[in-house]
Amino acid sequence: MDSIVVTGNGALSGDIPIAGAKNACLTLMPATLLSDEPLTLTNAPRLSDIRTMTALLQSLGAEVSALQDGQVLAMSSHDLNNLTADYDIVRKMRASILVLGPMLARAGQAVVSLPGGCAIGARPVDLHLKALEAMGADLELRDGYVHAKAPSGGLKGAVVEFPFVSVGATENALMAATLAKGTTVLKNAAREPEIVDLAQCLQKMGAQIEGEGTSTITIQGVDRLGGGTHRVVTDRIELGTYMLAPAVCGGEVTCLGGRIDLLEAFCEKLDQAGVSVEQTEKGLKVSRKGDRVRAVDVTTEPYPGFPTDLQAQMMALLCTAEGTSVLEEKIFENRFMHAPELIRMGASIDVHGGTATVTGVDRLKGAPVMATDLRASVSLILAGLAAEGETIVNRVYHLDRGYEHVVRKLENVGAKIERIKGE
Ligand code: EPZ
Repeated sequence: MDSIVVTGNGALSGDIPIAGAKNACLTLMPATLLSDEPLTLTNAPRLSDIRTMTALLQSLGAEVSALQDGQVLAMSSHDLNNLTADYDIVRKMRASILVLGPMLARAGQAVVSLPGGCAIGARPVDLHLKALEAMGADLELRDGYVHAKAPSGGLKGAVVEFPFVSVGATENALMAATLAKGTTVLKNAAREPEIVDLAQCLQKMGAQIEGEGTSTITIQGVDRLGGGTHRVVTDRIELGTYMLAPAVCGGEVTCLGGRIDLLEAFCEKLDQAGVSVEQTEKGLKVSRKGDRVRAVDVTTEPYPGFPTDLQAQMMALLCTAEGTSVLEEKIFENRFMHAPELIRMGASIDVHGGTATVTGVDRLKGAPVMATDLRASVSLILAGLAAEGETIVNRVYHLDRGYEHVVRKLENVGAKIERIKGE
């Protein structure tokens, strides 16, 4: 397994390009199952998760061609010939469950392996299933698979009220509803920019959707959807991650294509901490106002609140802030696995349940650390950028799921970082 070696090397300076959003692309790709016409995605990120979703769609009979070094995905599911999403692929990536709604809506049936949990939590899919049942689907859980059947006349429009916000359940229900007979109303729907991006792509395909980006989304089912071309929205989590690099070690970096509206709650916290964020033509220009950031309290919430996917990275910054910060993780039950690794680097962190109290220290010291999940792995790299000496981040295959060319992007702004091939 490869590792990444980072050596604290002072201030950064230059531009970092931000890719298309992994979490938008992973729901835009299954949308191709809704139509027998071609759907092309541009600005697609080059990530292992995208390659996993490609393999899954191909296993169902869809054609997916990665063009222009993977930045364009030309897809067509004209010849769907297999309605079973196999455990072998699904177990690698829980977003695979997002083929369930589209397959059910288009083909009237689907067999999809339950995704199982992951490092950050049990991550059940009960809300996905309840939404599809509300639309008339008959679901049976057997041998670790969901066996789903739509009524003979197809799915029916329904009012679906989510007891709490779920990004994936909103996406599955939204896609299924585009071909359901009648009107579907999703209440307490997720409002993430990735949901808006999906809705806009579906609208290009002919879907009748209103209210995307608000808590209530209304969909008028149509008989069929066409194809189209859609540009994947900028990855706000990659954006926030790289904004923290100059915050952690000083200097000034512009994240190309960055927009403040994608990360308002996050930018407010950076402002409170003493990090300057300026919207320019090129993107978001970020620099630290003084020699040290100030402690801030953070609570993760569904959009437009502070994103859970930036909690680990923010903790890396707050480890050397002036004062004590309290981070509350309200979305996932086990998302502080980066804390023990940061403590190995000299951080002072106290974790109790979903709350981590971080007392800033002057400087972290490089150490060998272990990546445990995607966002934890990149928080360790951020910590290593400013730490004294060398940090070796092991098991960086986690990183490849969500960050393309992380070494090159950071090297280009002055970081001392390299990837070491493992056995
Ligand atoms: C999406 O996961 C993202 N993944 C996650 O990003 C992100 O952290 C999460 O949304 C929250 O923003 C993709 O988009 C591929 P949820 P998702 O359904 O849809 C519970 C990353 O690092 N829940 O909003 O799975 C669930 O366990 C990843 O890029 C149920 O109980 O998240 C969690 O505690 C990590 N039952 C909470 O709701 C359900 O049926 C929010 O989950 C569904 C979810």
